[in-house]
Amino acid sequence: GTAQIGVSGLAVMGRNLARNFARHGYTVALHNRSAERTHELVDQFGDEGTFVPAESAEQFVAALERPRRLVVMVKAGGPTDAVIDQFAPLLESGDMIIDGGNAHFADTRRREAALREKGIHFVGTGISGGEEGALNGPSIMPGGSPESYQALGPLLEDISAKAADGSPCCAHVGADGAGHFVKMVHNGIEYADMQLIAEAYDLLRHAAGLEPAAIADTFRRWNTGRLDSYLVEITAEVLAHTDAATGRPFVDVVADEAEQKGTGRWTVQIALELGVPVSGIAEAVFARSVSGHTDLRAVGGRLSGPGRAALGADEAAAFVDKIEHALYASKVVSYTQGFHQVQAAGAEYGWTLDLGAVAGIWRGGCIIRAAFLDRITAAYAKDPQLPSLLADDGFAAEIAEAQDAWRDVVATAVRLGVPVPGFSTALAYYDALRAERLPAALTQGQRDFFGAHTYRRVDRDGVFHTLWSEDRTEEQQ
Ligand code: 6PG
Repeated sequence: GTAQIGVSGLAVMGRNLARNFARHGYTVALHNRSAERTHELVDQFGDEGTFVPAESAEQFVAALERPRRLVVMVKAGGPTDAVIDQFAPLLESGDMIIDGGNAHFADTRRREAALREKGIHFVGTGISGGEEGALNGPSIMPGGSPESYQALGPLLEDISAKAADGSPCCAHVGADGAGHFVKMVHNGIEYADMQLIAEAYDLLRHAAGLEPAAIADTFRRWNTGRLDSYLVEITAEVLAHTDAATGRPFVDVVADEAEQKGTGRWTVQIALELGVPVSGIAEAVFARSVSGHTDLRAVGGRLSGPGRAALGADEAAAFVDKIEHALYASKVVSYTQGFHQVQAAGAEYGWTLDLGAVAGIWRGGCIIRAAFLDRITAAYAKDPQLPSLLADDGFAAEIAEAQDAWRDVVATAVRLGVPVPGFSTALAYYDALRAERLPAALTQGQRDFFGAHTYRRVDRDGVFHTLWSEDRTEEQQ
């Protein structure tokens, strides 16, 4: 075969990735379950590069130079297994199957182990940036073996987004499912970022009393500072948009029920298993869930509370700046939690991870791309063993500076009855880390009381139990 890379599954993501490879000068073999799509791609975009259309799996595999690199872009779950089962018998030792879908990392670990036995590299790869990114440069998070990255990395780095300093937004993340794990946490952080922005919008509207067009201007202004990011940029676009049919702000004609495809939920489920507090992501998932429960929200009409009266004009102007502080501080906390989860997974699954490099490949191409990610890379460069991003002097100082405003924003939101689960859980996490003593001591006492679950002491080593229902003497276990 002559093709350096093949793409199977030519729905919009697969098609755009194939075109991206071709535009970079690679000969690209094409395959789809129905050959119609394959021919359509060649008809429409054949002049962008060199494509080798294949009618069957056999033809597709034969079109590839060895070791073969097959990118699979099909639905996560059953369809991915089906495609693997179709190709695996046709492949030889050293060949690579690259799964670019949003697979669950545990599936990726299972597939990688099964194919490794046959000498085939399975490279679970996170790809972010949607259709546009796939075509013009996504952020790419490949897992799998280091050997596979040797053969594959240069191609992926070529077609990836480039950060402001020109470096590719693609790096080998770690073995087996590490790439898909990191993509999953990326999506969890995406949910948290979106929720925090939504809370800022809600407060700008209902506490500061601004209209959507003015709020769009506020986000545009914020986008020139430390909040500079793709999500803040598109927030301004969405808020400035007017519905053609009604002339009303677009945001007022969209049903306020947020949907989700599941990667945020996965992030939280796995965080629970790993014992990592990702409260910001969890609140973001739950906030979408609450919004979608029209049955519950119907009950709300009967519940009393403050009527969201906006602040007075002079107070409102100052409040806008405070919201920026609250948004930034909460964002730092949610990234802190997300990176903690990645770090914990590395320890659990034996991945050698470079957390600074993970932040580095998110600087361009992906949904959470932001100027701020450079700061995370710098923090880990300064101290690769950083136990938490909040231990970085730079971030700690910024939060120290933001926190009076942050507290005021949360308190005001509570007083006005505007729900801010993201802002407030971030602040609660921050204060829990700061607390010299937590009420967890009482929790331990209760557990020992009702279930003899034992406790440790602050002044002596060992495990203890108090005989609560007898004379309340203490026993060492
Ligand atoms: C990306 C996005 C992409 C997708 C989300 C949407 O990185 O390109 O994260 O994967 O847009 O999965 O997720 P929800 O439908 O769950 O909001």
